[in-house]
Amino acid sequence: EEAAVARPFRQRLLVVANRLPVSAIRRGEDSWSLEISAGGLVSALLGVKEFEARWIGWAGVNVPDEIGQKALTKALAEKRCIPVFLDEEVVHQYYNGYCNNILWPLFHYLGLPQEDRLATTRSFQSQFAAYKKANQMFADVVNAHYEEGDVVWCHDYHLMYLPECLKKYNTKMKVGWFLHTPFPSSEIHRTLPSRSELLRSVLAADLVGFHTYDYARHFVSACTRILGLEGTPEGVEDQGRLTRVAAFPIGIDSARFIRALQLPQVQEHIKELKERFAGRKVMLGVDRLDMIKGIPQKLLAFEKFLEENPYWRGKVVLLQIAVPTRTDVPEYQKLTSQVHEIVGRINGRFGTLTAVPIHHLDRSLDFHALCALYAVTDVALVTSLRDGMNLVSYEFVACQDAKKGVLILSEFAGAAQSLGAGAILVNPWNIIEVAASIGQALNMPAEEREKRHCHNFHHVIMHTAQEWAETFVSELNDTVVEAQLRSSE
Ligand code: G6P
Repeated sequence: EEAAVARPFRQRLLVVANRLPVSAIRRGEDSWSLEISAGGLVSALLGVKEFEARWIGWAGVNVPDEIGQKALTKALAEKRCIPVFLDEEVVHQYYNGYCNNILWPLFHYLGLPQEDRLATTRSFQSQFAAYKKANQMFADVVNAHYEEGDVVWCHDYHLMYLPECLKKYNTKMKVGWFLHTPFPSSEIHRTLPSRSELLRSVLAADLVGFHTYDYARHFVSACTRILGLEGTPEGVEDQGRLTRVAAFPIGIDSARFIRALQLPQVQEHIKELKERFAGRKVMLGVDRLDMIKGIPQKLLAFEKFLEENPYWRGKVVLLQIAVPTRTDVPEYQKLTSQVHEIVGRINGRFGTLTAVPIHHLDRSLDFHALCALYAVTDVALVTSLRDGMNLVSYEFVACQDAKKGVLILSEFAGAAQSLGAGAILVNPWNIIEVAASIGQALNMPAEEREKRHCHNFHHVIMHTAQEWAETFVSELNDTVVEAQLRSSE
């Protein structure tokens, strides 16, 4: 149908991710309303001009009936999205189970769930079976839409089994895989019962990418130590076939944030916030409410700071935006109560009849409110225990060119490798050190703040999400596909 309108030929890019960049809400038997979520990946791919991108993924809703599925498929097609329908049981075992209860904590150094180590090997096995089944369903949809010459880019820990499924269909398919989380030390990865199967599958891809050089190195070590393969400067070699492995640090669409700050409604927000917090320094945390973000550690460090610095009580406020996520996973439910308890205690200890030191919100903010909040912040606190990159730190920096606030950043976030020179780097487990760094940030002379900010601002505007996507896709496209599957089975 494209050829009929004689458009100039653009190569197609099939972007496969667990989640489509839209949220779908059912309005009736055959009607849906769709909202595009302008996340990092979406804006990144808008920048890839030489390719025409299609998205393949789960719409995040259960659609058991055929009428609903047909209607949703049609509505999504207008947004260049193709759905993969996963039923409730698969979502439970694959998404809540294997992805978010096993791989996610493991890749962030939180280990495997204790109960699986002891008695429930059956449930571990069934979750892995569901993971493979779900990945196969993604592969079926990709295969049904694939045309010769397309480039296929698979994303994240949800889809580690996908490269192998795709190459089994078609050895000539150009397949890339990118991990958005850390890849842990091989000593952590080797605790995973399905460690080898997952590594082998990822190696079926032609290009494998990570945010940092360290993650890439851990992956190569896992392949050499666990699979006994050979690591080369280019990647991993298995019986003469090379899988290229490299670091591609992501960025943000900084121009979008900088532009937003000029909008009248954002300026209005900024004015309101400044009035609301007049006479107080504003500290900010923005995180998904996830164990890896170190929110309890952040709160404890703030408590320690108030305890030791009576002068600052009533003169500083911490705004913590904690966006609920994966609420069906028990670990996340426990974390919510734990965080509420700590916030309550600190506010009880240091609050007055008219003011509390912590404003904690269990919800997300819209884009404009978020930009305004970043802009009025004096100190941003990112205390991830592990984090693939952490783009909140980038967003904060992008919105701070007027104020030149301070970024306190965990050394365990990928971003520490790019924004480390401008930020105050901390070990979030060291509560005393983080508390001291809060004092250092609040007291930092203007000249030093400016110097640090300029360093980071320059990095954030030079290394954008668009450039990231372009680099990965063009390197993938330049990779010569060796149309041959290893005899791994
Ligand atoms: C992380 C993952 C993404 C994921 C996002 C939100 O950033 O790397 O793949 O989409 O969290 O999590 P959710 O489970 O809601 O998709």
